[in-house]
Amino acid sequence: MQLGLREMYHLQLSAQPSISFLSVMKHRTMQTSAGHTLYFWRRPNCRYTIKAIASRNDVFRTRICRSKHMEKLQNGYLFTEISMLQSLYRDKYPDVKLISLGVGDTTHPIPEIIASAMAKKCFGLSTATGYKGYGEEQGDRELRYAIAEVVYKDMEIDYSDIFISDGAQCDISRFQLLLGSDITVAVQDPTFPAYVDSSVIMGHAGEFKREAGKYGRITYMKCTPDNNFFPDLSSTQRTDVIFFCSPNNPTGVAASRNQLKSLVDFARANGSIIIYDSAYSMYISDDSPRTIFEIPGAKEVAIEIASFSKYAGFTGVRLGWTVVPKDLLFANGFPVIEDFNRVICTCFNGASNIAQAGGLACLSAEGYKAVSGVVNYYKENAAILVDTLQSMGLEVYGGKNSPYAWVHFQKRRSWEVFKEILDKTHVLTIPGTGFGPGGEGFIRISSFAHRESILEACRRFKSLF
Ligand SMILES: Cc1ncc(COP(=O)(O)O)c(C=O)c1O
Repeated sequence: MQLGLREMYHLQLSAQPSISFLSVMKHRTMQTSAGHTLYFWRRPNCRYTIKAIASRNDVFRTRICRSKHMEKLQNGYLFTEISMLQSLYRDKYPDVKLISLGVGDTTHPIPEIIASAMAKKCFGLSTATGYKGYGEEQGDRELRYAIAEVVYKDMEIDYSDIFISDGAQCDISRFQLLLGSDITVAVQDPTFPAYVDSSVIMGHAGEFKREAGKYGRITYMKCTPDNNFFPDLSSTQRTDVIFFCSPNNPTGVAASRNQLKSLVDFARANGSIIIYDSAYSMYISDDSPRTIFEIPGAKEVAIEIASFSKYAGFTGVRLGWTVVPKDLLFANGFPVIEDFNRVICTCFNGASNIAQAGGLACLSAEGYKAVSGVVNYYKENAAILVDTLQSMGLEVYGGKNSPYAWVHFQKRRSWEVFKEILDKTHVLTIPGTGFGPGGEGFIRISSFAHRESILEACRRFKSLF
């Protein structure tokens, strides 16, 4: 059997690893373009050797064609691949103390007041009076009232515009489902990869252009230090949907009031819908808006997707919400909220009532104080990282309104810097290109970690740079 260049390349796993190696490393198999399955084994020195070769004709297959959209996805999902790399690294170097500042997962325990509200709900379920089955698909009313009151006070967002979800990521996809496959989308470049990946899965993306690292039908709005990480809207083409994340993951930069005003004006002029991701709004320290609905006119062009994950350490509990204002209408005058409600009722049966009890506790005065304390802890971590890296002469962005530091290494490639940091300091970060071609030359460092790990990582960075 002839191996193609790609297969040969994959076999040299002891060479510089890149994200595309990871699925081979995990599944120990690889499909060749000629329709064969290669089975690998790993030698102790970490070289992979072919163990067996099976033709696709040798195994039972269904008659279902793989989705042509799924086939266009280039790699596995970024954060899953980074987590996989982390476990492979731990396997390979069991004696090394790896510090993970890669995937932005929270590490601090959930404050007791919130955990006990969930425990109370949970124990209540074992009693005849406390038991509850399905709730309203849109979410617990008390929680929706509390979000309207605490987060959207004076913004004329009614509780009935708010839908409780099992996390922001799920609603990003549910919203795509609602819009169908004929729409065009724009994203910040770099940004959170779920917008592009879910657009590919839905069929909005077009062909992948390898040289540019972009999908042909997606509009990439470049966000660099040169434009203060806000896109040049005067040269941005019209799209149906604009994904906008502020504070942005990964750059850590929050858009100012004037910038968001220009974004809303742009969407209004084009009749577009903004899908505004405010997952990190609790990290805003200056007067940047915490929600798009602080901007007049936004209710007619925007939905907002929000999350308790980074706000209350609910990455595992799973809770978020989405605001779909009744004023947001399709071209034929039909309210978007009606379709969103239909999707939610059909594809989602409501968030866990235990998680919702936790969410409600987060919004009480005492709960809010407790979660703000945890957010401040991560913000202090971010400040330590930024100060250390800046003191070493590095160009660092973010960290002030966000848990992420975005570090620029001029004239170097993200993967090369990522690997050098990993090999020499055993600190796991994320290469900027994982967030889009505009991330080339950057790495993202997360401040979600225990203080000792942040201080130790800083000591190691100092010895490297
Ligand atoms: C910008 C952004 N949006 C959404 C999410 C996903 O949030 P959730 O855990 O609520 O699904 C993340 C998670 O890292 C994120 O960074």
